[in-house]
Amino acid sequence: MTELLALDPDELLSTTRAVRKRLDLDRPVPLEVVREALAVALQAPSGSNSQTWQWIVLDDPGLKSRVAEYYARAFNSYRDAGSQQPATPAQQRMAESANYLSEVMARVPVLVIGAISLGEAGLPEGNQAGVWGSLLPAAWSLALALRARGLGTAWTTLHLRYESEEADVLGIPPDVRQGVLFPVAYTKGTDFKPGPRADLDSVLHVNGW
Ligand SMILES: Cc1cc2nc3c(=O)[nH]c(=O)nc-3n(C[C@H](O)[C@H](O)[C@H](O)COP(=O)(O)O)c2cc1C
Repeated sequence: MTELLALDPDELLSTTRAVRKRLDLDRPVPLEVVREALAVALQAPSGSNSQTWQWIVLDDPGLKSRVAEYYARAFNSYRDAGSQQPATPAQQRMAESANYLSEVMARVPVLVIGAISLGEAGLPEGNQAGVWGSLLPAAWSLALALRARGLGTAWTTLHLRYESEEADVLGIPPDVRQGVLFPVAYTKGTDFKPGPRADLDSVLHVNGW
């Protein structure tokens, strides 16, 4: 069992950040540590306890490169579309950091894709909270469990534009839909601070909107 960082629960929840530039690309990540974090993550809830999530873990350099190529292609068109021009210094820093990640994705020691088996019916029309709610809590638990072990990641979805191409590369069956791609590495240092968030009162509605 990997030694855990001394973080109290609130500290863990508030300092699990999107880590990109502080991913240590040179320190190998044993798959056993990823397994351990996944085993904790699988304690997350899912609808009817269906546990239809699937986890595709990549440490093969060739496969990581293929996935990273699609990610970079998607990231470049997102960036070039320019719909998200950074307005503030914080947004500028995030854009630079996201750009960096797209350039180094193939060098990140481990990539983890979180996906869900849907069966023949596929994704439902209308609200899909019941489907994604059976994958994404476990995905976030994985990010937390990794952080507790000194590893970091950034939640990424841009590559999903090429979901079916990546499924072909990885042999993912057609009824399995991808939800998130985590680049996983040890972090450079383990001290992280809470992130910038809007004030609670701007989003809180007690007893109705
Ligand atoms: C649904 C979702 C999709 C995201 N997609 C990407 C992505 O494709 N690439 C990326 O670099 N970051 C992505 N992020 C990371 C966000 O930019 C990050 O969580 C947010 O800026 C907050 O970061 P912080 O916790 O470090 O403050 C995504 C996050 C979420 C929750």
